[in-house]
Amino acid sequence: MIDIGIFKIFFIILIIIYFTYYFHKKFPELTWDWNKISFDDMKFPKNFIWGTATAAHQIEGNCTNNWSEFEKGIKGNGDPNIKGSQKSGLACDSWNRYDEDIKLMKELGVSHYRFSIEWSKIQPKENIIDKSAINHYHKMINSLIKNNIIPVITLYHFTHPIWFEKKGAFEKKSNILFFRDFCELIFNQYSSKVNFWCTINEPAVMTSMGYFNGEFPPGKRNPQLSAIVLNNLLDAHVEVYHALKKLNNGSESQIGIVKNINHFDPWRRWNILDWVVTWAVNTFFNNSTIQYFKTGKYSVKIPGIMWYSSRNDLAKNANDFIGLNYYSHNYLQFNWSFKEPFIVKYKNQDIMTDMPYTIYGEGIYRAIEDISKLNLPIYITENGIADAKDNRRELFIKRYLYAVSEAIKSGYDVRGYFYWSLLDNFEWAFGYDMKFGLHEVDFTTQIRKLRTGSLYFKKIINKT
Ligand code: BGC
Repeated sequence: MIDIGIFKIFFIILIIIYFTYYFHKKFPELTWDWNKISFDDMKFPKNFIWGTATAAHQIEGNCTNNWSEFEKGIKGNGDPNIKGSQKSGLACDSWNRYDEDIKLMKELGVSHYRFSIEWSKIQPKENIIDKSAINHYHKMINSLIKNNIIPVITLYHFTHPIWFEKKGAFEKKSNILFFRDFCELIFNQYSSKVNFWCTINEPAVMTSMGYFNGEFPPGKRNPQLSAIVLNNLLDAHVEVYHALKKLNNGSESQIGIVKNINHFDPWRRWNILDWVVTWAVNTFFNNSTIQYFKTGKYSVKIPGIMWYSSRNDLAKNANDFIGLNYYSHNYLQFNWSFKEPFIVKYKNQDIMTDMPYTIYGEGIYRAIEDISKLNLPIYITENGIADAKDNRRELFIKRYLYAVSEAIKSGYDVRGYFYWSLLDNFEWAFGYDMKFGLHEVDFTTQIRKLRTGSLYFKKIINKT
């Protein structure tokens, strides 16, 4: 008699092989032979937008918000929340030096500047609106316009007032209205001068870092909560989008969310378990947001980790454009541990940046392909490299811009590119150690200096 169990095992093995092969074919990892590529082939349309990007907490200085509180804290293992216990403090003092920074943009030749408004400075207490902060941004916007630099406002870039944090921030759907009120206030102030608006920067980064691995405030490690907060942030965007559209200048303004795409690729393409973890992480980090804006359905169902779904039919028409932030991809290896179900890996031939990720120019092409599923105009709202030695910046810029130009050649509707960042700045949990700036900043003298590796960016934008 033949044991029927053997057939079952054989059958299961066949299914595993089938699915591994299917994933391998369906999700190829794009790689180009860079030795055969000539960067002279790069072309950008005449009306392509070139800009740089920053965020208030990272450059302005003297912020009192959820981040400045978090900077004082330590993690469960006794390590400080921020590397070396650094504090954002005075940062680049751009609150006072914005004219100097605008001059740098002019010298570079960019036409657009993406920056964020610091909610905690506008509304330090729930019932207090600081008029001088409102005037400050008026003056800055006026100065940009006077210098022919078009302002692009981000309404929320990771930071909020402490009073909002105390209310539970975006953990509670009911708190969205406080954010909406703030956005309406800002829009009413500046929308006669500003036409280009980003609502929320990278909801999936904020939630995975703040609620999944605890590296950002509020430092929680609660996957289920991260799924809920992500949904609330997406709903907040939808609420704000429709509210702003109803205000004066609303219909003429371009309003969109900023999505960071970071691909997760399997470390071993022949291993079904590596595919399972990459599927899980991609579902949460990338696909849930794309699906939400495409269909109105939010669904992150990852057995044993997070299980949440909801619907918002207003999500389908809630963007005039999509902002795409892209840096790199990660390889994930399945790990037999419930606490740490995967390990992030790098290949020997990978060129590392100073951040724990690699130079992967092809990835921005893939990200454009992915985000184009939303059928919206695409702006690359962030892309850049941390490179203290400035010996990889030029290569990074060449490869990523080449990939963007290839995407345009393939017909994708990419309309602009904002380099991250204008200046070295406070890189969140890494403090000041990461040097993303086109300009190096000496944080004792506040002197800014254009890096040699940035010259290629200057050359390309002035050629187009
Ligand atoms: C964020 C920036 C950050 C950059 C580099 C993006 O995820 O929007 O604030 O500085 O990545 O890590």
